[in-house]
Amino acid sequence: MTKLRLGVNIDHVATIRNARGGAFPDPVRAAKLAAQAGADGITAHLREDRRHISDADIERLSREIDLPLNLEMAATDEMLAIALRHRPHAACIVPEKREERTTEGGIDAAGQHNRLAPLVRRLGEARIRVSLFVEADRRQLDAAKSLGAPVVELHTGAYCDSAGETREKHLAAIRDAAAYGASLGLEIHAGHGLSYDTVAPIAAIPEIRELNIGHFLVGEGIFVGLEASIKRMRQFMDEARK
Ligand code: PXP
Repeated sequence: MTKLRLGVNIDHVATIRNARGGAFPDPVRAAKLAAQAGADGITAHLREDRRHISDADIERLSREIDLPLNLEMAATDEMLAIALRHRPHAACIVPEKREERTTEGGIDAAGQHNRLAPLVRRLGEARIRVSLFVEADRRQLDAAKSLGAPVVELHTGAYCDSAGETREKHLAAIRDAAAYGASLGLEIHAGHGLSYDTVAPIAAIPEIRELNIGHFLVGEGIFVGLEASIKRMRQFMDEARK
């Protein structure tokens, strides 16, 4: 099976920093540690309200880290301008609601075709690899394909937050979406809410090429250190992939 890449999302290092408004803990230092621990990329979400990652963080991440940067962004003109200025390796377009605690659902690629089309085109022209964060639903994959996005990231939040039969149903939908999306020629990523307990069945899906994981790794890092939490996650992923 192809290697499964791990993108480490460092947003919540910035959440802790911002709780006191100072300079530490520094998300760029976390990104450098993640690289040492075996991450294949760094993911950061510059939210409209700047609740965690700041513009200055994106600037420094672009300049100071060697790993590919995946910028998570809402489909707005402001974020498009920022992405075009920094030209990250990838941009993952996510829905954003100011009042939500985290990205609660996938973007409606099917319903928002006209809004997304120019954004996907302009990012693509700047050679930024565009990914759409979508629910595991064939309709959304068809829409991503017709928008010309090369990548989709499947939302694993509902799978992680459920249990028993409901979790199995969500897992089956993710498996189906991964196979269907790959058959359309889309590169398949997945993420949101993944932990040591939930990562293996997702990592075992052969069409999935990349996982983006943040909150759990930063939280676990409080107890065992960030490098250790990332290395352990990497082990779970590699084991599941065998
Ligand atoms: N992928 C996307 C598109 C996200 O929006 C997020 C959360 O910012 C993640 C992955 C990572 O989720 P978590 O922090 O729950 O691991």
